[in-house]
Amino acid sequence: MTRLVVVADDHEGGELAAEIIADQVEANAASVLGIATGTTPLTTWAALAEHGLDLSGVDAFALDEYVGLPQGHPESFESVVHREVVVPLGLDPTRVRVPVSHGVDPHLAAAGYEQSILEAGGIDLQILGIGRNGHLAFNEPGSTLESLTRVAPLNAETREDNARFFSSVDEVPTECITQGLGTISRARTLILLAFGSHKAQALAAALEGPIGVQMPASIIRSHPDAVVIADRQAAALFGTTGADRLASA
Ligand code: GLP
Repeated sequence: MTRLVVVADDHEGGELAAEIIADQVEANAASVLGIATGTTPLTTWAALAEHGLDLSGVDAFALDEYVGLPQGHPESFESVVHREVVVPLGLDPTRVRVPVSHGVDPHLAAAGYEQSILEAGGIDLQILGIGRNGHLAFNEPGSTLESLTRVAPLNAETREDNARFFSSVDEVPTECITQGLGTISRARTLILLAFGSHKAQALAAALEGPIGVQMPASIIRSHPDAVVIADRQAAALFGTTGADRLASA
């Protein structure tokens, strides 16, 4: 079942997401968390840090990573996760995995990453953002719903959106390793966060349009335990796509 919670802004949304994560960790100090990068989850990490929980026993898996950035590049998700999540939240760095492929064939690295998630017993709680085109992690439109962790292309719109972290769009890699939509769907709970008017079109299509490869984020509706936390701007187009509205929480 997909619950929808519309909040006033990203701070309220981050506080709510942090509460859900805190409940999970309080119930199981050895929880396995799924970590998203980007701007969207920043208020969640900040709110979670306020809880002052001991997260040193938590295992964590990042959703995705670029292919081809030099190790230690500040905008590699390995660096971003360390800077924005591991250090502020006091995670044990040895328990945090990112699908890196330094000196390894990326396809082999991707297969090994999928296996490591299985060996960890799967992800208890996955934090997700959504791309402007409805991508989830780096699963672009056209990604199959059963896809697993793999090397995938980044389309022009996604590279443009992520160019804000680089000196030019030419620096943004063209390929990534991403958990697949099938991989993400196996997580026991999904929290999809969406804040800002630039996410409104994708979120309305994901929640009210057809479920399918053209809208990767639509898989949220097939998941047994998913919550969508959106601010009013991101929720502004609900009810305009003509499809059935989701039951509000
Ligand atoms: C990137 C990430 C996604 C993220 C998306 C939205 O593509 N791979 O995980 O959800 O960007 O980023 P932001 O939260 O900065 O809008």
